[in-house]
Amino acid sequence: MPTAYEKTYYIETFGCQMNVHDSEKIRGMLSMRGYQQTVSPDEASLVLYNTCSIRDKAEQKVFHRLDTLKRRSKGKKIGVLGCVAQHNGEDIFKAAPHVDLVCGSASYNQLPQLLDRLDAGEKRVTGLNLDTDETYDLPAADRDNPYSAFITIIEGCNKNCSYCVVPFTRGPERSRTSASVLEEAARVVESGTADITLLGQTVNSYRDPSEAGWSFAQLLSAIGEIDGIRRVRFTTSHPQDFTPDIVEAIGSNEKLCDWIHLPVQSGSTRLLSRMRRTYSRDQYLGVIEMIKAAPRPIALSTDIIVGFPGETQQDFEDTLSLLQEVEFASLFAFKYSARRGTDSMDYDDHVQEEVQKERLAILQELQRRIQRKHNDARLGMHENALVERFRDKFQQWVGRTTQNRVLNFDDPNGVAADESLLGSYCTVHVTKAGPNSLIGELVSVDQRPAGRHPQPALRVLQ
Ligand code: SAH
Ligand code: SF4
Ligand code: F3S
Repeated sequence: MPTAYEKTYYIETFGCQMNVHDSEKIRGMLSMRGYQQTVSPDEASLVLYNTCSIRDKAEQKVFHRLDTLKRRSKGKKIGVLGCVAQHNGEDIFKAAPHVDLVCGSASYNQLPQLLDRLDAGEKRVTGLNLDTDETYDLPAADRDNPYSAFITIIEGCNKNCSYCVVPFTRGPERSRTSASVLEEAARVVESGTADITLLGQTVNSYRDPSEAGWSFAQLLSAIGEIDGIRRVRFTTSHPQDFTPDIVEAIGSNEKLCDWIHLPVQSGSTRLLSRMRRTYSRDQYLGVIEMIKAAPRPIALSTDIIVGFPGETQQDFEDTLSLLQEVEFASLFAFKYSARRGTDSMDYDDHVQEEVQKERLAILQELQRRIQRKHNDARLGMHENALVERFRDKFQQWVGRTTQNRVLNFDDPNGVAADESLLGSYCTVHVTKAGPNSLIGELVSVDQRPAGRHPQPALRVLQ
């Protein structure tokens, strides 16, 4: 058994918010076992990489990290967690023989036992079972950010997009009971955090497995009713399951944020069908129309894959015209990356890298113009911002609006004097707009964080 001082760990997280939050739960579990976190792998007895395999580059990064660690790994236990772990399984031991633990997210409930086995001297321990209906609900999550909390409500994915590894890496859809989600949300708010983001790969496919049988919209509404809550958002939504009751819920409670992330992937129905996205361009636009008809304006963001196999110039132009029609407030665009085990890997009409690059640049330029227009429209307005950090370089506070826009601001009139604004909700007058953010001046501090958080306490999200 390791002695107390040997119980040190280092964790690095790659990938999506679900991974970020899984790492928070793993940190909570390790802390309960007496482990202390270190800032570099050098001082740690246990080194964990919580990994992402959505695109090839993300996966290569992990193997690069493992390679670098090889020379410094003597006496350390090394674990690969998350999506690369699940997708590559025991092959990781072949590629990186110094790895001791390989565990996918569907097996995280077993992590304590797997660590016990490592402590007992066992080598090459794995948790790779995907055949599970369990979710990883850990009350002791050690959250990165004391002012905003992630809560996972549904794990895995039952959609079967032809390009995507997630169903292989996270397993089938499993929803938590509404009671356990509500209990966690109430606890988070009680501890002074008024901003909650509900997480799931297809968050709006949530279906309460308990007798109550709540829909996603019912759960969302109930969370918005918790005493002391200020902001609720959710990500990522799938267009197929985006039902009118979700828009109604948002429309009737201002605490449910006016921002929806709704990945479209392509504006071409032909390509959407090859991607197996289960909706057409017109159906997607129908959902957007419904959202735009809400009583309050709702900001929209999306994900796009450019250069999917078989994407013609016309398909690409269909995507550009969809962007022009919807005018998303922000967008994440990726070049298609062929992933082992997915059906699209076998399509034989791959788009050349050069063409992918060119299309990505065109799309991003169009989006920049759209974002500029959106942000220009906020000039002169008063926005509410939750303050996330202070930028030393510009001597400015960095906040986020309910529509998920970044708003940098200063305090020229000394409204807040020298006090820290971290975690405060502020009214800010918007004075400048760029394509990616807004700039403004502090008008008033509307709500300070409940005093229980040490300041400044924000850890940078990895
Ligand atoms: N569940 C969400 C998103 C999951 S992954 C959804 O269905 O929309 C996040 C984003 O990564 C996807 O929206 C997609 O745009 C991108 N992505 C997934 N697989 C990819 C691949 N093989 N190549 C490039 N981008 C990919
Ligand atoms: Fe992947 Fe599609 Fe599931 Fe999203 S909905 S995680 S893109 S399979
Ligand atoms: Fe990556 Fe896994 Fe998330 S593949 S995007 S970390 S679900």
